[in-house]
Amino acid sequence: EGQPQLREVSGIPLQASTVDNWSQIQNFEAKPDDLLICTYPKSGTTWIQEIVDMIEQNGDVEKCQRAIIQHRHPFIEWARPPQPSARNAKDCMVSYYHFQRMNKILPDPGTWEEYFETFISGKVAWGSWYDHVKGWWDIKDRYQVLFLFYEDIKRDPKHEIQKVMQFMGKNLDETVLDKIVQETSFEKMKENPMTNRSTVPKSILDQSISPFMRKGTVGDWKNHFTVAQNERFDEIYRQKMEGTSINFFTEL
Ligand code: A3P
Repeated sequence: EGQPQLREVSGIPLQASTVDNWSQIQNFEAKPDDLLICTYPKSGTTWIQEIVDMIEQNGDVEKCQRAIIQHRHPFIEWARPPQPSARNAKDCMVSYYHFQRMNKILPDPGTWEEYFETFISGKVAWGSWYDHVKGWWDIKDRYQVLFLFYEDIKRDPKHEIQKVMQFMGKNLDETVLDKIVQETSFEKMKENPMTNRSTVPKSILDQSISPFMRKGTVGDWKNHFTVAQNERFDEIYRQKMEGTSINFFTEL
């Protein structure tokens, strides 16, 4: 009753509004110089969006304050004018759990124990973490794909931002890069109304339950996973990710 339901398209559970706008996704045609950000939910989408915009605007903070991040980098299904990163599955699951607690247009996640099973089964909005990560990892060398890890950006933001800059064909000098590192830190983005989702109504995102900019760390899963859950997770992870060479850090 009253609970938001996911709706499936080709077997992938999706948020209802995404299904309503499905034709936008199907009819989307990339232009040669388009840059698409293809993150799994809760893997640092907002972070990389802000980094890309900062690079695009040559580090001009005021230009990046022109609009909220959802408008500067619209989701394809909500495409409005004008206009892959990956995170380890354990931290992603934790972040997604807290996000579903506070997101009133996604189903209630239930207890942590229940959500653990839902996440592993892949029956979460926008589908399975494993399929997303394996899919992009498998094709990354065949296309112009820059595969980024949340954990890497966390450990050495300047180095990773430089990679994004090169991928975008830009050449910004050291001082601009340093400024972008500062401006895209968790602390800054948590305070920034253009990135922290504070303008989204409480009926959609209730930040009193859990802030959108929640912790921004690597390893918070240790505060959630029991020893038994961790063993079960690792076993299933091995099965699902068998044959892939991808390697995630789960702590720094
Ligand atoms: P936590 O819930 O673990 O804090 P998305 O934008 O894909 O929804 O991802 C949200 C996650 O990225 C949240 O993780 C959020 O705190 C984190 N995040 C956002 N901006 C960040 C930044 N500048 N540095 C580190 N983590 C950031």
